[in-house]
Order: sequence, then C-alpha cells, then structure tokens
Amino acid sequence: MARVFSGIQPSGELHIGNYLGAVENWVRLQHQHDCLFSVVDLHAITQAYDPATLSQRTIDMAVGLFASGLDSERAIVFVQSHVPEHAELNWLLNTVTPLGELERQTQFKDKAQRQESVPAGLLNYPVLQAADVLLYEATLVPVGEDQLQHLELMREIARRWNSRFADGFTFPEPQALLSTAKRVLGLDGQAKMSKSLGNTIGLFESPETIWEKLKPAATDPARVTRKDPGNPDVCNIFTIHQGFSPPDTIKLVAHNCRTAGWGCLDCKRVLADNMIAALTPIRERAEALRAKPRTVTDLLRGGAAKARAIARRTMGQVRRRMGLLGEADG
Ligand code: TYM
Repeated sequence: MARVFSGIQPSGELHIGNYLGAVENWVRLQHQHDCLFSVVDLHAITQAYDPATLSQRTIDMAVGLFASGLDSERAIVFVQSHVPEHAELNWLLNTVTPLGELERQTQFKDKAQRQESVPAGLLNYPVLQAADVLLYEATLVPVGEDQLQHLELMREIARRWNSRFADGFTFPEPQALLSTAKRVLGLDGQAKMSKSLGNTIGLFESPETIWEKLKPAATDPARVTRKDPGNPDVCNIFTIHQGFSPPDTIKLVAHNCRTAGWGCLDCKRVLADNMIAALTPIRERAEALRAKPRTVTDLLRGGAAKARAIARRTMGQVRRRMGLLGEADG
C-alpha cells in the first residue's frame, strides 16, 4: 500500500473546485491506500487572516471533509498545528532549500505582489508543504494542477536532503496525483475557482443558489447565440459536468453542445440537477456534524495522535542524520 498525504487550507469554504480537484479523490484513495489528510492551519497564517475566526474555520473545513466522505476509520484526518513536528521539519528543510527556487514559485510571486509587506512565511510556504509530505514518507500527493510546482520543489528538497544526510534513511520523492478536474475555473470562466476571487460554488450551497450561480456562469466564449455550435473542450461547465454527471450524460452533453442541439442553459439545467443530487447528502451530513462539534474535535484529536506517532519516528531519524544531539544521548 502506498502512503498518501494531502492538505487543504481552512479558507472558510470548501467549493466544487477543491472538491473535484482534490477532496473527491481523497475519498476514493482512502479505500486503496494508507492515507493522511490535514487541515493546514499553519499554511493559512502566511497571509492576512483573522485570528478570531481561524479555529472555527479549521473546524468547518474538517466538517466539510468528513461530510464529503472522509472516514476517520480509514484515513488519518488531523489539524497540521496539532503535530508540531511539521514546523520542526520545516525548519530543518529550510537549511537545504535554495532561496532562488522559493523566489521562483509562481504562487509566491502572485501572492507577494498583492501585499505591501511580504512575510518570510509566505516565501517558505512550499518548504512547510514539503515537510508535511516528507514527515510521513508519503509517495502520492493528490492535488489540483496549481500545486504541481510545489510538488516539483518538494522532490528537489528531498533529493538535496538525501544527498547531504542520507545514511540508511532516505526521503522518497513524492509524485502528484491529478484528478480529471485538475483545474476547475471560476464561474467567471477567467481564473481558477478560488474563495479569494469570489467565483465559487460552495459545497453546501442550497439547490436554489446552485442554480442561480450556474445560470450566468461563463461557457465557451465563441458560442454567442443559441444557434452557434459550441466546443465542450473549452467550456468550464463541461469540466464541471465531468465531475458530477454520469458518462452517458457527459457524451450527450458534448454531442448537444457541438451540434447546438441544446442551448447553454439546457446544459446547465442538467448539470444543476446532477450537482444537487450529489451535493445534497454532503450538505445534510455537514449539518448533522455541525450540531455535534465535540464529535469533530474528538475525531481530529484521534487523528493527530496517530499522525504524531509516525511523525516522531521520522524526526528521530532526521535529527540523528543531521547531527543534532539527542536528549537521551550520553
Ligand atoms: P488549497 O487549500 O488551496 O486547495 C486544496 C486542494 O484543492 C485543489 N484546488 C483545485 N483543484 C482544481 N481546481 C480548482 N479551482 C482548485 N482549487 C483548489 C488544490 O490544488 C489542492 O490540492 N498548498 C496547498 C495545501 C497543502 C498541501 C500540503 C497539499 C499544504 N500542504 C501537502 C498537498 C500536500 C493549498 O493551498 O491547497
């Protein structure tokens, strides 16, 4: 069985972009592999945030993950800051990470240009991400396409640490695992679907809101009138169909788009019905879990204990290889 690790920031909203790009895949993988999934609160604080709401957002994200189908009996689900070894390994890996590689990361450049004063934590963000995965010697990392550059750097960090310190213990080089919806665009059809851009459909949205949001959503820009044939390959609504509709419907959608048999609104209505059918049980499970916050924090505490047992073993190896004096050493 391969070891799988992935993380999600407690951004306040689980939306269909990160659901189709990552979380849905996590739910499937927990039946096949040895999986750890983390709500990465230490990553979330690298950008402006409100300390008064972070802990609630962390719980909300965990609720979303459990409601989506993660099962604490099958996967280790935990909060990153509950396992302090993440921050420790982050520091140790900083010492083998080239500064130039960090400065080249497109996510860093994008986020840095949006703020006046850039915290060092934002630059070191991908090193913490490397620590997350390497701490558990995970080999598979199910993510959306926007994380591929971070994955490449993670492999580079593993290689550098291995060539400098390995002695019977090496970090495996993790591979990204992409889903079919590896890049879901926002409803504007312009940029990646993202909470910070306000172009999302949330996972817990009501059936009415789902339809209201889908109606004006961007489709193939070349399809101007109802009679114009469309190209599903460049249509974000088609990408979302692939996440929510069964294979025969997807074929029908593609055919009716190319032949102008359906207008975009007809296509969206079919999508709305399939999305509502898939998301309603998730929304209902989330409502039930929100009524029992203690159950959720108990599950997270149990997850952190299991994660920490693995993390401690790795850190023992890493500290020794790096020459740090052990507390128990004579
Ligand atoms: P985050 O919190 O931004 O997103 C969580 C996951 O959802 C994917 N995703 C998308 N996929 C397709 N289309 C979209 N519009 C879309 N939006 C989000 C992301 O690719 C991601 O897989 N740095 C990471 C969190 C992280 C992590 C890790 C991931 C921290 N440590 C270790 C993997 C391994 C992030 O900000 O994801």
